[in-house]
Amino acid sequence: MDARRHAPATLRNRDPILAVLRRRLPPRGLVLEVASGSGEHAAHFAPRLAADLVWTPSDADPSALASIDAHAAAASAEAPGGARIAPALLLDAAAQDWPIARAEAIFCANMIHIAPWAAAAGLLAGAGRVLTPGAPLILYGPFQRAGLHTAPSNEAFDESLRLRDSAWGVRDLEEEVLPAAETAGLALDSVEEMPANNLCVVLRRR
Ligand SMILES: C[S@@+](CC[C@H](N)C(=O)[O-])C[C@H]1O[C@@H](n2cnc3c(N)ncnc32)[C@H](O)[C@@H]1O
Repeated sequence: MDARRHAPATLRNRDPILAVLRRRLPPRGLVLEVASGSGEHAAHFAPRLAADLVWTPSDADPSALASIDAHAAAASAEAPGGARIAPALLLDAAAQDWPIARAEAIFCANMIHIAPWAAAAGLLAGAGRVLTPGAPLILYGPFQRAGLHTAPSNEAFDESLRLRDSAWGVRDLEEEVLPAAETAGLALDSVEEMPANNLCVVLRRR
């Protein structure tokens, strides 16, 4: 049976995100992906990034891991020399202990609004623990800015998320994310506007 799952949005956002990763990732080391979901991002990005980077996907949902590994295997079969994707890890961003002690970069797309705030806070705290000094945490997704939605579509999305689960919701960059990042020892590096009213937010370990 083919374990691969498909999240159609990844086909639309993967190349704009890849362009950011190419500019923001270090030339070598371990890139931890938190909340890899289907694994399609990992399979697209890893073979197109610097040869000395090893992409390490993960998710808190055990049932996601087979799909991530299956996409990685398919990408490795296509890429000369393999796709440089490690086996997927079971990693709950909210947990105190992560199954990884050190990373040269962390990437996380579309998790912090589709999970309780503890996942976002845990991601920032974990990034503070495992990132090497100066290393980036790159977040992709919708954000509010200083108390305001950036588009009517994001406001409607936020309402639909909160109806599904009152603990979910589009997070506020200035009022929620940056203060928690500061506490975790991360400083804002840059904010890039992305298609469909999403942002790439780059934080760096002090
Ligand atoms: C909307 S999907 C995004 C998947 C992928 N990053 C993408 O952009 O297509 C959200 C993912 O977050 C994962 N997730 C939710 N809470 C999490 C947590 N506390 N730690 C790690 N992953 C979590 C879910 O299992 C799911 O795979």
